[in-house]
Amino acid sequence: MDNKKLIGDAEIFVKSVLEGDGSGHDWWHIERVRTMAMRIGKAEGADLFIVELAALLHDIDDWKLIGDSISQQKAKGWLLQCNVDQELTARICAVIDGVSYKGALVSTATVDPECKVVQDADRLDAIGAIGIARTFAYGGSRGRAIYDPNIGPIMHENFNAYQKGDAPTINHFYEKLLLLKDQMQTATGRVYAAQRHQFMLDYLEQFYAEWNGGEF
Ligand code: NI
Repeated sequence: MDNKKLIGDAEIFVKSVLEGDGSGHDWWHIERVRTMAMRIGKAEGADLFIVELAALLHDIDDWKLIGDSISQQKAKGWLLQCNVDQELTARICAVIDGVSYKGALVSTATVDPECKVVQDADRLDAIGAIGIARTFAYGGSRGRAIYDPNIGPIMHENFNAYQKGDAPTINHFYEKLLLLKDQMQTATGRVYAAQRHQFMLDYLEQFYAEWNGGEF
């Protein structure tokens, strides 16, 4: 099998599915995750072919987009259609399976080196300036309020409860975004996460100052 051709075909396939998405899971999210995953993967000595292919396909079956549990049906179907053997297909699907965030109190730590890399890259795109933009885009796509001081954050204990969450978007910072820094799986991921985490803290400080109409 020609690995380079498979990567190119995956790019075309993913673009065609996610191109017009307005929930923060568009093609450019995939492209940023791929770039970051390759950078982290190189630094961590991961298998870059597995990393790149899994990064490209990681949101094709995302439960947030298809409203279903994670099963990797589309990714699996596409890989098999491309005559990728069962072993590699299972390997890629296993990496993708481990990427998703499943709730504040649910551990998604993994020993799989390629999964660590793609998970960190995906989570880095969920924090910082772009993470903030994506979070509000996603909340808006679900008709959620920006903020409601009367509704506090919930630390979800299982994936099901997390999936059903429908709180204002600011709550998502406490239920996910601010927790990601300490869940990074690679040394490279931790370096990027620290800076983006601080940016979100500064953002929230400004947000509440403006909300309360006070002087800074
Ligand atoms: Ni993603």
